[in-house]
Amino acid sequence: MGRSPLLLLFLISLSLTITIRSQNSNPQNITSVNIGTLYTFNSIIGRAARLAIELALEDVNSDRTILPDTKLNVISQDTNCSGFLATIEALQVLEKNVVAIIGPQSSGGSHILSHVANSLQVPLVSFSATDPTLSSLEFPYFLRATRSDQFQMRAIADIVEFFQWREVTAIYVDDDYGRNGIAALGDELALRRAKISYKAAFAQAVDLTEITDLLLQVNLMESRVYVLHVNPDSGLTVFSVAQKLGMTGPGYVWIVTNWLAAVLDSKGFGLGYGYESVDTDPKVLNLIQGSIVLREHTPDSDLKMKFVSRWRNKTGNTATVSGLNAYSLYAYDSVWLVAHAIDQYLKTNANSINFSTDPRLHDVNGSTLSLAVLKIFNGGEGLLQNLLSTNFTGVTGPLQFGPNRDLIHPAYDIINVVSTGPRLIGYWSNYSGLSVVSPEILYQKPQNLSGQSRRLYDVMWPGGTTQQPRGWVFPNNGQPLRIGVPNKASFKQFVSSGSNSGSNSNASGFCIDVFNAAIKLLPYPVPCSFILIGNGTVNPNYDDMVKMIAQNVLSLSLV
Ligand SMILES: *[C@@H]1O[C@H](CO)[C@@H](O)[C@H](O)[C@H]1NC(C)=O
Ligand SMILES: *[C@@H]1O[C@H](CO)[C@@H](O)[C@H](O)[C@H]1NC(C)=O
Ligand SMILES: *[C@@H]1O[C@H](CO)[C@@H](O)[C@H](O)[C@H]1NC(C)=O
Ligand SMILES: *[C@@H]1O[C@H](CO)[C@@H](O)[C@H](O)[C@H]1NC(C)=O
Ligand SMILES: *[C@@H]1O[C@H](CO)[C@@H](O)[C@H](O)[C@H]1NC(C)=O
Ligand SMILES: *[C@@H]1O[C@H](CO)[C@@H](O)[C@H](O)[C@H]1NC(C)=O
Ligand SMILES: *[C@@H]1O[C@H](CO)[C@@H](O)[C@H](O)[C@H]1NC(C)=O
Ligand SMILES: *[C@@H]1O[C@H](CO)[C@@H](O)[C@H](O)[C@H]1NC(C)=O
Ligand SMILES: *[C@@H]1O[C@H](CO)[C@@H](O)[C@H](O)[C@H]1NC(C)=O
Ligand SMILES: *[C@@H]1O[C@H](CO)[C@@H](O)[C@H](O)[C@H]1NC(C)=O
Repeated sequence: MGRSPLLLLFLISLSLTITIRSQNSNPQNITSVNIGTLYTFNSIIGRAARLAIELALEDVNSDRTILPDTKLNVISQDTNCSGFLATIEALQVLEKNVVAIIGPQSSGGSHILSHVANSLQVPLVSFSATDPTLSSLEFPYFLRATRSDQFQMRAIADIVEFFQWREVTAIYVDDDYGRNGIAALGDELALRRAKISYKAAFAQAVDLTEITDLLLQVNLMESRVYVLHVNPDSGLTVFSVAQKLGMTGPGYVWIVTNWLAAVLDSKGFGLGYGYESVDTDPKVLNLIQGSIVLREHTPDSDLKMKFVSRWRNKTGNTATVSGLNAYSLYAYDSVWLVAHAIDQYLKTNANSINFSTDPRLHDVNGSTLSLAVLKIFNGGEGLLQNLLSTNFTGVTGPLQFGPNRDLIHPAYDIINVVSTGPRLIGYWSNYSGLSVVSPEILYQKPQNLSGQSRRLYDVMWPGGTTQQPRGWVFPNNGQPLRIGVPNKASFKQFVSSGSNSGSNSNASGFCIDVFNAAIKLLPYPVPCSFILIGNGTVNPNYDDMVKMIAQNVLSLSLV
């Protein structure tokens, strides 16, 4: 992201103050209200949102119970990914007297635009910006019509704890979305006495050699549990590189955030939207086999089924290329969310929507930026309150904002990709953690966080094994483990120098045999060398041997 948009925005925030001034009086009913949309048309999320927003608009405008005499008018802008252009394009939407914006699509864009939204008092309702830090008090005009990754990361931390892993490697895209999501994961793991032992971040622009180098580093590390938090449009690249490097076989664990579910759903894997698992592209399946994937949980309902069948009707019934995924559902509900709020607003504000200019946001002499076209929405504060007191049921379930202005009932489906396609192995809800019972049933019962009911169905791990990977290896940095062995004067049958008994190793005896047998049970090789301590005439001091571990002379010690 360049400096220019920030500078521009800095100027805007400097020169804007919030003034409420009446401009024109219009006692007549409002016949149309403008809202803006900001997303990248040519992206997996954008394609999922576009038709959804269209359908929602159709529905709102034909529904007589909401905004009966007012047409909801959408001004769409393709933000086309780039941070700087996205900002300029967003300003172009804002100059068209919009009262709210559906979007921005990206977390980075939401951070920047939130400052503008605060000044112009135009609420942003994003269906896809999941960065947890956007919930902060700094951004009162930013509302999330989807789940904060805070909850997704809590779910992942619960999964890590469930399988008793202690360390994970985070592989993520180094932008607001990736970085802040992974920071939340670190916090959640810490609460469970686990941690991120290695962070592998790459730049947004995907470069194969960069990913290859990164994964080679990752493979040298101890942890074999990978949390992959990247963008839907480029995420599968990471898997294809990983496969080339042999990192998708037995012993590896891939926990993948909801981006992969969006990819799979839009390719028509369609789990839970009334589709069968139709076109299971074997090439893609092969890449991601054994992964554990999270997806936003939306309860099955007639509304959702109706929406899905309309979608199929519109897209020619070809489920395979439909593009439908969870973002479609959230985008559809975002429009309704805004429509309900505007309806409420018009009822309580005598059908008046007006904007005012800030005298301080004048056209600076010599500047062609025309900042004066940006106007303050006088009713912004009221509309925001209406948004926050939303209470209706949409295709994603009940829509209400709870504590921290998060939508209530955050929950995820937990999916395991097996050879035949994705398979549901359980749910996670903020209400009761991991479970094989759907959250809607659990909400009816008193909260039970005892942990005894925590369960998931069996997982098929990478490499097609059902045996749970241990999740770590000894770091493969060419150094064998140095194992201290007391060269004892007594009880030599337990442990003594190998040369005595003609063994080709430095040490022999019962303890060494047990140790070697245990090492053989591990599913991967562990190089080690025995180092004799003492001269065989006097038993060595055990305290000294323990000290040698602390001094890193020995990796571990048999005493
Ligand atoms: C405004 O709408 C209300 C009902 O929604 C209607 O009764 C009223 O006549 C309308 N007023 C104007 C000026 O159109
Ligand atoms: C979006 O950006 C790409 C290059 O980044 C460009 O080729 C394309 O024309 C742009 N599309 C629009 C609609 O601006
Ligand atoms: C499908 O679309 C056609 C026209 O586009 C419409 O006549 C028909 O009622 C639709 N069917 C459903 C189930 O929505
Ligand atoms: C802009 O220029 C006009 C005349 O050139 C001058 O009267 C006015 O004060 C200037 N405004 C600012 C903000 O400099
Ligand atoms: C402008 O809107 C505010 C509240 O949104 C309202 O109180 C005020 O009366 C409106 N002004 C006019 C002239 O309609
Ligand atoms: C939301 O609406 C339902 C009925 O539609 C009502 O039972 C419930 O109490 C409402 N909740 C709040 C917080 O207003
Ligand atoms: C999630 O759970 C925590 C702890 O049980 C609770 O404090 C919080 O309010 C919940 N959040 C939502 C959005 O339900
Ligand atoms: C919680 O669930 C466990 C196992 O299902 C059960 O044994 C326990 O009694 C439950 N506790 C409460 C408070 O319901
Ligand atoms: C025996 O010990 C020496 C150093 O004490 C070490 O270099 C060698 O690798 C050891 N051999 C085995 C088989 O452990
Ligand atoms: C063996 O080591 C002990 C103390 O480390 C020493 O007292 C003893 O003299 C040594 N024996 C030989 C044969 O070197």
